[in-house]
Amino acid sequence: MREAVGGGASKAMDKIVIIDFGSQYTHLIGRRIRELSVYAEVIPYDTPIDKIRKMGPKGIILSGGPASVYEKGSPKPDKGIFDLGVPVLGVCYGLQLVVEHFGGEVQHGHKKEYGSTSLRVADNADLFAGIGKSIKVWMSHGDAVKRVPSGFEVLASTDNSPAAVIADRRKMIYCVQFHPEVMHTEMGSQILKNFAIGISKARQEWTTESFIESAVLGISEKVREGEKVVLFASGGVDSTVTATLLRRAIGDRLTCIFVDNGLLRMGEREEVEANFKKLGIKLEVVDARELFLGALAGVKDPEQKRKVIGAKFGEVIMEFDKANGHAFGWLAQGTLYPDRIESGVSISKGPADVIKTHHNVGGLPANVKLRFNLIEPVSQLYKDEVRAVGKALGLSEAFIGRHPFPGPGLAVRIIGEVNEEKLRIAKHADAIWNEELKKSGWYPKVWQAPVYVGDDRVTGVVGDQRKLGYEVRLKAVNSVDAMTASSAELPFELIKRAAGRITNEVEGVVSVAYHVSDKPPSTIEPQ
Ligand code: XMP
Repeated sequence: MREAVGGGASKAMDKIVIIDFGSQYTHLIGRRIRELSVYAEVIPYDTPIDKIRKMGPKGIILSGGPASVYEKGSPKPDKGIFDLGVPVLGVCYGLQLVVEHFGGEVQHGHKKEYGSTSLRVADNADLFAGIGKSIKVWMSHGDAVKRVPSGFEVLASTDNSPAAVIADRRKMIYCVQFHPEVMHTEMGSQILKNFAIGISKARQEWTTESFIESAVLGISEKVREGEKVVLFASGGVDSTVTATLLRRAIGDRLTCIFVDNGLLRMGEREEVEANFKKLGIKLEVVDARELFLGALAGVKDPEQKRKVIGAKFGEVIMEFDKANGHAFGWLAQGTLYPDRIESGVSISKGPADVIKTHHNVGGLPANVKLRFNLIEPVSQLYKDEVRAVGKALGLSEAFIGRHPFPGPGLAVRIIGEVNEEKLRIAKHADAIWNEELKKSGWYPKVWQAPVYVGDDRVTGVVGDQRKLGYEVRLKAVNSVDAMTASSAELPFELIKRAAGRITNEVEGVVSVAYHVSDKPPSTIEPQ
């Protein structure tokens, strides 16, 4: 399988390449650099040097990671990166890699330093340009520099780390023990700016327009003349942006399929069909309701549900490909960066934990991954970034503002087994909740507003009669990237109105609750 992640694969745009060693913060480095209008792409730690050279990076950042450089099997980059002649910034584990590579020494099991600490800056040139003599930085490490490699000088220190920042300016290699990418580090963005723009001289060319240009170019370079692409379109922002980019790049060699898996919201299929028609993109609808619902019967475990759904999507695509004479060389998906992280396939194949198997990433069966080359042009982006791209592509504001909806659909909003009754309730209650959010003007102000239904029955009273019925849970969260979320403080009036309508209009529901847990510890979808 060839894999084409990232849209800006073309050489044209200046870029900073981030090598991922599995830190939970790696993705943030990319985001911070792109906020400076410099394109950044995250790649796995074991990417061969030829591939890195081909990307033409202006600078390389070595991310943090949970391993220790002296541990057996700890992730190591291709050593060739130090001979490319481009500036390198090592962050935390990245610093330790540099120290080890250049003959210094890392002290294993050093006193753990975690959280905010004061950094004393001894040298305010290049990396610390425009920064004062003392800043608060965020530390998270157990190993520390014991002996600085020859040729390196100390630029800054903390009480626990005398060599917290070191550099060999001749080789243009800089290393920081702390995490400049997290909000808790004062002037962290300035430090990254000093590296990316000041030291690496990357031009600030990353705009949504330039991304589109570069993504379209990248796709047409990868998908060779005559090759065809099939795209799983859910009709949401991510897959529609992906479809639009592909359409621009390869025209009608793109086929989109929309799978009606029976887990959709009310009127969703018709809405998606109408939207693709308006965009002039051909959409084939596959009715697979029986296939999915049959396979889900009796399945209660959330991760198992995701696996079953992933497997069925796999079957649908293989069947579709067969019916089309195996015409497709590529399978495209609108996967975003957070989908990859939470599915534990965070690029590095490293130690990122699986939170949930997102159906479009970790859940695809092996035979599908083997059969197709995978193309995911927006896989380096976050939701807000993909929305900005959608806007630049001319998608309507209303469409871009659509809340995210998970690939496994209502199956992950139904607790326990998916059955017809719970599906009917989830669909109807979801329609009412969304209608009320839109009418009150709150829809665009919240990130997502799921409705859950489980198996618990509560006692209600209807007329003069006791009636056991379902309880529906409403939720609304604020978020910027779905990695964390907080419960939205909606007016009680609105919740009460929606609850009243749901208990009145949705047969079998006698109770409604408003869910207030943040992520973490809760996740946005209940399953
Ligand atoms: P959680 O529930 O993990 O969700 O906090 C984070 C974001 O991801 C969406 N989500 C999915 N999207 N396939 C998708 O395409 C999936 O399997 C999936 N699971 C969760 C969720 O709606 C939220 O925006």
